[in-house]
Amino acid sequence: MITVNNLTKKYPNQVALNDITTTFPAHQTTAILGPSGSGKSTLLRSLNLLELPTSGEMILDDLQLAFNQVISNQTILKVRQQFGMVFQEKALFTHLDVLHNLTEGLIHVKKLTKAVANQQALKLLEQFEMTELANRFPYQLSGGQQQRIAIIRALAMQPKYLLLDEPTSALDPELEAQVLRILRSLAEQNTSMVIVTHNMAFARQVADRILFIDHGNLGYQGDTENFFTSDNPRIQQFLGAMTF
Ligand SMILES: Nc1ncnc2c1ncn2[C@@H]1O[C@H](COP(=O)(O)OP(=O)(O)O)[C@@H](O)[C@H]1O
Ligand SMILES: [Mg+2]
Repeated sequence: MITVNNLTKKYPNQVALNDITTTFPAHQTTAILGPSGSGKSTLLRSLNLLELPTSGEMILDDLQLAFNQVISNQTILKVRQQFGMVFQEKALFTHLDVLHNLTEGLIHVKKLTKAVANQQALKLLEQFEMTELANRFPYQLSGGQQQRIAIIRALAMQPKYLLLDEPTSALDPELEAQVLRILRSLAEQNTSMVIVTHNMAFARQVADRILFIDHGNLGYQGDTENFFTSDNPRIQQFLGAMTF
């Protein structure tokens, strides 16, 4: 489980996160929802220290970090190794084919031999029915295929937690559905995931837990169905703005 206590992130001109205290349970899917610019990415990126919060603390399983103190590079590295991350788009190495995209981290970070890395990568491609893509370069893939490979690449490193920041928002609906199906199957296998999404139907169906961020404040945390049936006016306004 990841716990954050009183997490605050200030930029020179604004407070991106204001005193967030919440948890991200292991083996569950937590969806971070909220309007544009509300601080969702900042919260997600704070978990793997791509952003350094201004104050507050984080407890990552047995590791405790206080952000009013200097965090050593060694600690940052240790934290980053617990996470896999998938961004909105264009995350693959363009000069490497799919197989080499998948084995790069296994060989250079996990120090596996090339043979073992290849074997693991091929097994994952087979598991997700994408074996035929192994020798294609990213430019030869659809956006949906690229994102599915990016997800598999993150999984190959066997991270404790998978972070996804709007992984489908650059995709057409049909390609989005392919990616969401993979994420749903990962959720069903109890993968520990935190996902920022604008897809309310997906969040409602797949998330175990909802965090609603509004102007840097935590507007809701808890049960998914309670969020979508909430009579809180701000939540209703948000959900209303997301439909037409
Ligand atoms: N590097 C930065 N410097 C200054 N302000 C930033 C920076 N990154 C984000 N912000 C601001 O912090 C707020 C939250 O941003 P972000 O977390 O990206 O929101 P969201 O992901 O919900 O759209 C926004 O108002 C954004 O402009
Ligand atoms: Mg964002």
